[in-house]
Amino acid sequence: MTLLCGDCRDLMPAQGPYDLILADPPYGETSLSWDRRVEGWLPLAAQALTPSGSLWVFGSLRSFMATEADFRAARLRHAQEIVWEKQNGSVFHADRFRRVHELIVQFYPATARWQDIYNAVATTDDARARTVRRKRRPPHTGAIAAGTYRSLDGGPRLARSVQRFRNVHGRAIHPTEKPVPLLDLLVRVSCPPDGLVGDWFAGSGAAGVACRLAGRRYVGCEIDPDMARP
Ligand SMILES: C[S@@+](CC[C@H](N)C(=O)[O-])C[C@H]1O[C@@H](n2cnc3c(N)ncnc32)[C@H](O)[C@@H]1O
Repeated sequence: MTLLCGDCRDLMPAQGPYDLILADPPYGETSLSWDRRVEGWLPLAAQALTPSGSLWVFGSLRSFMATEADFRAARLRHAQEIVWEKQNGSVFHADRFRRVHELIVQFYPATARWQDIYNAVATTDDARARTVRRKRRPPHTGAIAAGTYRSLDGGPRLARSVQRFRNVHGRAIHPTEKPVPLLDLLVRVSCPPDGLVGDWFAGSGAAGVACRLAGRRYVGCEIDPDMARP
């Protein structure tokens, strides 16, 4: 576990290559002094991935729309996104919906094929025995067995793209600290056991805790010396 203090654009490329890059950059959406969009890190991150590596980036739809050309210029291709649903959220505008979610979007180099990217498909463990009834037999299946069957274990179920985790309000050491269980999910799905995770905008270092729990190696980088101090 390593936490570097400085600018990720200077320090992180040399620490790779990374099996997974986690990036929770400032979204550049508020007037807060630390919330300034960081330019130029995307091509460096894209080049610092292993051949099976990918990048999960936190943001809002507004921040992704504002930086869409940067992702394209860095030759990063969208793979999928998940929505993190929180129990409470931020009020940016008193005349709009209260935002209780964040987007986390996975990208991989456009030079790679998706099937070559490390991807431990997330399934849920809440499957239950159930009776499955086919309402209508699909016409192309011809004469197949009964339209009702008993599924003993429910079968593996793909995890939902909307994931609910309590945020860390009240206990956080960083104003935008992400919950460890959410980071743990990303790390287990997209980094092989013992692989290397690069956390380019580390903040509190919560992703380091997730990596420790999941048995992945971790290099984080944070520009704020107060936050980076152990
Ligand atoms: C949204 S926060 C990350 C929060 C983090 N994911 C957590 O769970 O605590 C973004 C962080 O990036 C840091 N930062 C901004 N520019 C940076 C840069 N060029 N290199 C490294 N860190 C930077 C900020 O100081 C801030 O702590």
